[in-house]
Amino acid sequence: MSKSRLPMDIGDQNYRRWVRNNFPSIRNLVYLASSGRAPMPAQATAAMKTIFEKEAKDVRTSIDEEKIFRDFSQQGAGLLCCKPEELAFVTSTTMGISLFGNAVKWKKGDNIVLCDVEYPSNIFPWVWISKREGVEIRKVKGKGGLISIKDIEKKVDDSTKVLPISLVQFASGQRMDIGHLSEICSDHGTMLFLDAIQALGAVKVDLRKNDIAGLAAGGYKWLCGPIGSGILQISDAWKDELEPAMISWLSLEKSQRKSLWSRIVTGGPLIDDDVNVVRDASAFSSLPECFVQMVGLTESVRFLRSIGITQIEKRIGKLNDYMLERLDENDFETITPADSGHRAGILAFYSRERMPNKKMADRISKELKNIKLVIRSGAFRSAAHFFNTKEDIDRALSALIACRNRGLFR
Ligand SMILES: Cc1ncc(COP(=O)(O)O)c(C=O)c1O
Repeated sequence: MSKSRLPMDIGDQNYRRWVRNNFPSIRNLVYLASSGRAPMPAQATAAMKTIFEKEAKDVRTSIDEEKIFRDFSQQGAGLLCCKPEELAFVTSTTMGISLFGNAVKWKKGDNIVLCDVEYPSNIFPWVWISKREGVEIRKVKGKGGLISIKDIEKKVDDSTKVLPISLVQFASGQRMDIGHLSEICSDHGTMLFLDAIQALGAVKVDLRKNDIAGLAAGGYKWLCGPIGSGILQISDAWKDELEPAMISWLSLEKSQRKSLWSRIVTGGPLIDDDVNVVRDASAFSSLPECFVQMVGLTESVRFLRSIGITQIEKRIGKLNDYMLERLDENDFETITPADSGHRAGILAFYSRERMPNKKMADRISKELKNIKLVIRSGAFRSAAHFFNTKEDIDRALSALIACRNRGLFR
């Protein structure tokens, strides 16, 4: 499908055939759970399978590592509108966050401003760093599951080293205003670091537009990549503020790799300034040699870009406009902000009250059978991606209304 052909008519029936061919793993499902895990396009699974098949036939099969790194960085740079050198492959969001956080040159008196609605991946590494480095964590409290930028602004000052925040919040689906956040951070010399796993692949992120120190995102949600894949971006403008806590042999400048190693082997002198780590994100690049996942994610991103991320975002917007209308008509309470600038792919909602316990949530999930949406903290979380249709939303809502009519939400 070319860029211009992604239908904006969410009721287009021909589109379903295209979806079934390209996403065989959801062929028999109403899949509204890309906030948990999205299906991979056939093009990506085929590329991964090719590597395994070659290896299965002959152990001497060589992998063109440089090409794999190059393709990954080029696709990532196209996705994020950044330079390829600003990107590193990571195996998860958590790994990207940890690599970034542990590379910051912390000093006494620094603080980290952290929202209490963040996913644990964007809390635990910072808590650990705060304990180890003796830096303060300033907590911003959400109200009704939502975060107010004004409340963030009150906590950030000239000692705030990092503001780590999800671009799209996992539970509420709230999409943060990065322009505003980046202004606040610029005023105080603070590094804005984004957990972008609930955003990349669903919304257009153009890193040229704002001052963002870095971002991390696992590849297996909206990017439709494999588990064990992800992307870390470190902005050129901020790289001198960071020093990698872990390096591999590929992190050293090329000219130095051999000379340093042979001096160690031959017992030559080792002086401090002998170790020159490359000054871009490739210093972080080579920790996991996960070539198969890298190829999978690269192909998924290539596939999404060939359709057009802006078009994908538009279609998701239309699907969610429709879903919001139907939720409202049917007496559901929506948690996600209704205005399109403050939402992305996730819509969180509940029926009159949140479900009181997990047992009830498990029962409803079972009743929904092949309709997949997530139930979290007593609320439903629908995550319509560009492959979903109006029919998917109608079927999911009818099933939820049927559960309610049978008294299953009480
Ligand atoms: C906002 C957010 N960050 C991080 C994660 C988990 O990331 P990973 O498993 O890639 O470390 C999730 C998963 O749901 C998430 O929603």
